[in-house]
Amino acid sequence: MRMYDIIEKKRDGEKLSSEEIRFFVDGCTNGDIPDYQASALLMAVYFQDMIEEERAELTTAMVESGDQIDLSAISGIKVDKHSTGGVGDTTTLILAPLVASAGVPVAKMSGRGLGHTGGTIDKLEAVPGFHVEISIDEFINLVNRIKAAVVGQTGNLTPADKKLYSLRDVTATVNSIPLIASSIMSKKIASGADAIVLDVKTGAGAFMKELDDARELAQAMVSIGNRVGRNTMALISDMSQPLGYAVGNALEVREAIDTLQGKGPNDLTELCLELGSQMVVLANKADTLDEAKKQLTDNLNSGKAIEQFKVFLEAQGGDSDVADNPDLLPQASYTFELPAEKSGAVSEIEADAIGTAAMMLGAGRATKNSDIDLSVGIVLNKKIGDAVSQGESLLTIHANTKTVDDVKEKLYASIVISDETVEKPPLIYENISR
Ligand code: URA
Ligand code: CA
Repeated sequence: MRMYDIIEKKRDGEKLSSEEIRFFVDGCTNGDIPDYQASALLMAVYFQDMIEEERAELTTAMVESGDQIDLSAISGIKVDKHSTGGVGDTTTLILAPLVASAGVPVAKMSGRGLGHTGGTIDKLEAVPGFHVEISIDEFINLVNRIKAAVVGQTGNLTPADKKLYSLRDVTATVNSIPLIASSIMSKKIASGADAIVLDVKTGAGAFMKELDDARELAQAMVSIGNRVGRNTMALISDMSQPLGYAVGNALEVREAIDTLQGKGPNDLTELCLELGSQMVVLANKADTLDEAKKQLTDNLNSGKAIEQFKVFLEAQGGDSDVADNPDLLPQASYTFELPAEKSGAVSEIEADAIGTAAMMLGAGRATKNSDIDLSVGIVLNKKIGDAVSQGESLLTIHANTKTVDDVKEKLYASIVISDETVEKPPLIYENISR
């Protein structure tokens, strides 16, 4: 088989066979195929696309390019959740204990954040003592014993994705539905989930700014998951503004605690209940979404969910007293308000820019090796649709510097106040299943 012929075939819009796709993925991973030929094929895929069968084949080849986590020693159906990335998205912190409280085993492999979207591990490490450096055996034991555990990415998972992503990054081929969908799904599948719930974000703060693009990506991932035997569904949710109020690691843990006690922000609570219900149903722990949602709501209100969170924190060395006393979390030295420059209704809180402002305060990593400040961030006091009077605080900045003028300037530029009344954006746009 020759790489030249594979490139030519895709260039001309033909379907690649499974042998050709495997030849390409294996050759990229072991270095037999030079970067220029791999890049040429990526560009051909960018323009010619792949049909569903090719996408599933590409995903499977990427999964098989490295280690796969075997979770078969955990009893029950392991359901994973993946979000395509948002600002202030605290859902994983809430969903892990919440669905565990309904009997669903949660075996979560997570990453650190890069850029303006915080990683779940960074957030959890804001809890004093909490650590994710556990072996896979300990991880599996914990899930069997207490239903939930989080481990840092270990092993040589999907090396083909690392290679292809690094080529896409420098050849303007990141933004391709078959390539994004196979990249994301290969990592989920290699980390061992039996079933997958996807939260595909759309809006100004999302990778897919337009609903049509988000839908196409969701459909592509749902199709891949189901074709390779993992029950997969997706919700398309709003990321035109940050989710909840808090953006920043310790601040988001505080918000997660509130939510697990049944007193969190409406949007964050509602999204967690919707995603969580889907997970409970896929895990066969409820017959209907309504039944699942009722159980999860009861667990938030009865204290069962927050108790599960405490057990989960303790099991990985964390101080569970933070649940009763969130002041034990790292706190910034200074706070600053951002007064509204005029009265009206908030019509835009651009999530991207809020994330970047939080990163400027030190909450996110500019590069892979930067240190982050777990205590800093932003807490919104208003969301889109809320009325505001001149001088009233739009948000509170938590910082460890005495002046934050550059951050304030960035924030002012990202918030729009309208003279007209403004409708709140919908939280969930669509539900995509097989
Ligand atoms: N996230 C991924 O993991 N892969 C992509 O290709 C794009 C976003
Ligand atoms: Ca939040």
